[in-house]
Amino acid sequence: MMRLTLALSVFAALELAASQQIYDIWQTTWDRDMLFTYFQPNPDPINFVTPGPAASADIQIDDSSVYQTVYGFGASLTDSSASLLNGLKNQNSGSYWQLLDYLFNMTDGANAAGLSYIRVPIGASDFSTQDYSLDDSSGDTSLNDFNINDAPSDVFSVLSDILSVNDRVNVHILPWSPPGWMKDGGTMNGGSLETQYEDTMANYLLKSLQGFKSKGIPVYAISIQNEPENSNPTYPTCDMPVATEAAIGQSLRSLMNSNGFSSTKIIGYEHNWNDAGGYPVQLMQQAGDYFAGVSFHCYDGDVSDQASFTSQYPDKEVYFTECSGTMGSDWWSDIKFYMDEIFIGSPNYGSSSGLMWNLALDGNGEPLLPGTNSCNGGSYPGCRGVVQINSDGSWSLNQEFYSMAQASKAIIPKDAGGPFGQRIGQSVSGDLDWALVVGAYVTTRTDSSQWNRYSIVVLNWDDSASTTWNPVPVNATIEFRGMQASYVFPVGVTTLWWYAPAQSFSVVDTFKHALKSVWSGSLWDLPVYLWSALRG
Ligand SMILES: *[C@@H]1O[C@H](CO)[C@@H](O)[C@H](O)[C@H]1NC(C)=O
Ligand SMILES: *[C@@H]1O[C@H](CO)[C@@H](O)[C@H](O)[C@H]1NC(C)=O
Repeated sequence: MMRLTLALSVFAALELAASQQIYDIWQTTWDRDMLFTYFQPNPDPINFVTPGPAASADIQIDDSSVYQTVYGFGASLTDSSASLLNGLKNQNSGSYWQLLDYLFNMTDGANAAGLSYIRVPIGASDFSTQDYSLDDSSGDTSLNDFNINDAPSDVFSVLSDILSVNDRVNVHILPWSPPGWMKDGGTMNGGSLETQYEDTMANYLLKSLQGFKSKGIPVYAISIQNEPENSNPTYPTCDMPVATEAAIGQSLRSLMNSNGFSSTKIIGYEHNWNDAGGYPVQLMQQAGDYFAGVSFHCYDGDVSDQASFTSQYPDKEVYFTECSGTMGSDWWSDIKFYMDEIFIGSPNYGSSSGLMWNLALDGNGEPLLPGTNSCNGGSYPGCRGVVQINSDGSWSLNQEFYSMAQASKAIIPKDAGGPFGQRIGQSVSGDLDWALVVGAYVTTRTDSSQWNRYSIVVLNWDDSASTTWNPVPVNATIEFRGMQASYVFPVGVTTLWWYAPAQSFSVVDTFKHALKSVWSGSLWDLPVYLWSALRG
């Protein structure tokens, strides 16, 4: 009897020790009471306990299914964004560094979003002061006049500052157009590349990589053409058929491999969801060996279209690289769209990133390329940046920031220099299964004996927005390795963290071992079982 009591109390102690607890919560609510606000459950951490009945929204986490790594969330550092940020630095450098810290600091425990993915145009885009490429000498096929300093110095100084806050930021570069002289219309604005310049264009991209390197900027990925199905005569764009992108990709890959850029990825397509089963699939058919994957934009189609690509090329990477906010839209409606389609939705459809368009713009969506009709041509409503920087040196954060910050916190490395999070299996069941949209991640450790971090990002959009506004908090159960936690999700976005050993183990097995050792009198073995149980 004594032994049974002892065994039972050992079991109870084991169960407590082996159970996970939610300690860390970030939250953004529909009414903006919480804006990427950090808190710990009060008064105690939330325990995963022996399961009771499932709530009407029951979130199941399946960490035996591990999918793609997510390398980060962020936006594009356009010439306009760089000039506004550098202007802020000149006007109020304390405020500038505070902003960069809040956006990019990825240190564990920092009160910051830890954004880790930045896309940078090569040459002009619709957010530049004028059209320019990095070699505007007509007919210069040997690219003797290529000059990385044709790009505004603000771009490199702000990028360097960002990397000084977070040296893990993944930089992805790409042109909005080849130099005008390589194109049929002789201008960067619209038209298409003359096929005789395919190799010259590959060389131009190699020189761009070398130029960024000379500025101290390591490049994670390069794309060949932004939006190859968009030709617009009012700003840098280029219609580029699949065969042309395939040919440039093949030639660029070999140039990169022989010039010290073999670990830099080439990402194809860079255009809308609606053609996910078309252009990017044909690109992989024609030149798949040279591309690590493809990337998507939001302006046509739906995130579920990503499956038209991933179902045919499950081993290729997918990135989500562009969507722009529009001035005057509803804050909470935007958050719902961004979480459902981009910051939870796109990773759930295989993507390794989630990016908005301009990192920073002013309150009018400027500065915009003079004369362009992009982003409503400078009339209201224009495009909105992730950050708004005002002429008086103040700044504010838009809904685009709060959405990506909630997602970023789920995948940032736990250890300095450690891996980014990987998506794991999740599903929601119950009568209220429609009320929650969930993304789930595991972040492994540099020391594999340390517990992994598990995280979920949850959108509760149960607000009856289309009828009588009625935001309803959802009391959900969270199932993990046979244990259950409960949390009431307010209408908004919530990111939760807990820790667990790398491998699942069964408490019942451990109990059997413990019972056996108590009965056989070999109590000495107990600490060993406990130790192995905790380590998994
Ligand atoms: C949520 O549901 C759990 C059981 O599933 C229950 O124990 C808890 O009291 C509920 N919380 C609230 C605030 O309703
Ligand atoms: C990042 O955050 C950590 C923790 O709060 C802090 O110690 C560090 O100084 C910050 N780094 C920068 C560059 O601001």
